[in-house]
Amino acid sequence: MSRPRILTGMRPTGALHLGHYFGALETWLAHQDDHECYFLIADYQALGDYSDQVDLIRDAVRQVTLDWLAVGLDPEKAAFVVQSYVPEHAELTMLLSMVSSYRDLTRNPTLRKEISQLEESKKRVTVGFFTYPVSQVADILLPRATLVPVGVDQAPHLESTNKVAKEFNRTYATDLFPEVEIKVGRVPRLVGTDGQAKMSKSLGNAIELRDDASTLKRKIKRMVSDVTGENPRLSATAPGVPEYNPAFLYFDALLGEGSDEARDLRARYEAGTISDGAVKERLLEVVDGFLAPIRERRAELEADPGYVSDVLHEGSRRERVLAAETVQLTREAMRITDY
Ligand code: TRP
Repeated sequence: MSRPRILTGMRPTGALHLGHYFGALETWLAHQDDHECYFLIADYQALGDYSDQVDLIRDAVRQVTLDWLAVGLDPEKAAFVVQSYVPEHAELTMLLSMVSSYRDLTRNPTLRKEISQLEESKKRVTVGFFTYPVSQVADILLPRATLVPVGVDQAPHLESTNKVAKEFNRTYATDLFPEVEIKVGRVPRLVGTDGQAKMSKSLGNAIELRDDASTLKRKIKRMVSDVTGENPRLSATAPGVPEYNPAFLYFDALLGEGSDEARDLRARYEAGTISDGAVKERLLEVVDGFLAPIRERRAELEADPGYVSDVLHEGSRRERVLAAETVQLTREAMRITDY
């Protein structure tokens, strides 16, 4: 019996942080045993946006792979794939673009937001970037995946995937492409250390998976304890409002929302029996306890520079077998194999 298939991925733009872990990686880990998994490093997608920063992308491909390995994703169980190593990603993108709606593309809210951010920062918007949602549809349909564990911001792309698959199946009277389902992680959007809605490397408010103990200490020390500036705490031992303090969202993520300790910390904060400083001290212990084994594993892996490269070539080779089959079936459905 074949296992249900997952395809999911990330753009290689830098090392990963806690937001990636609780929004996605945790779910990937939970599924790698009972699903046939393809974890994609979407380098084309990054190039559409950072074409002038090839060194950054090259480094990020390695960083992302190291982070995946360090958190326990296992290349023996799941194929780690580089988008550009499997030319079928490009070919299927071309084929599916023939049934993808231009109108839908221009209305994709995630794409629109990204494009306006590029325009605000006076960056060029390339055609490759504009059409990346089509290539993302192809990424997902290439292994004919049925489950895609990703962050909430990816939902419009999943909607497009189902639309395009349906349109293709209808147009060419086939049932080649299955319906896919999104699976959002336990913490869809982790707040940043500055209390901003989203942890992000570019906002400088991220705790990275590779941060060492002293970096971590510095970041937590600087963390805001009151996002509103209205916390009615008049002294370290006055009643506090946990909702104003991002530390409590981190406790929920790291210890589990319903855990005794997360609830106890909240209760003590509300009662004014724990200071902001003591909250941070405990947070540092908890985060460091979480990151220490990841950091250690990463250091081991970094000692063998050939390993990352092998993992990516091997995983891509594995996906390619299936990819070639899908492209052949797609071409047959479109009746372009023989004129
Ligand atoms: N758009 C995703 C991101 O920005 C990366 C990605 C590319 C992806 N192809 C995918 C995610 C296919 C899920 C499925 O991180």
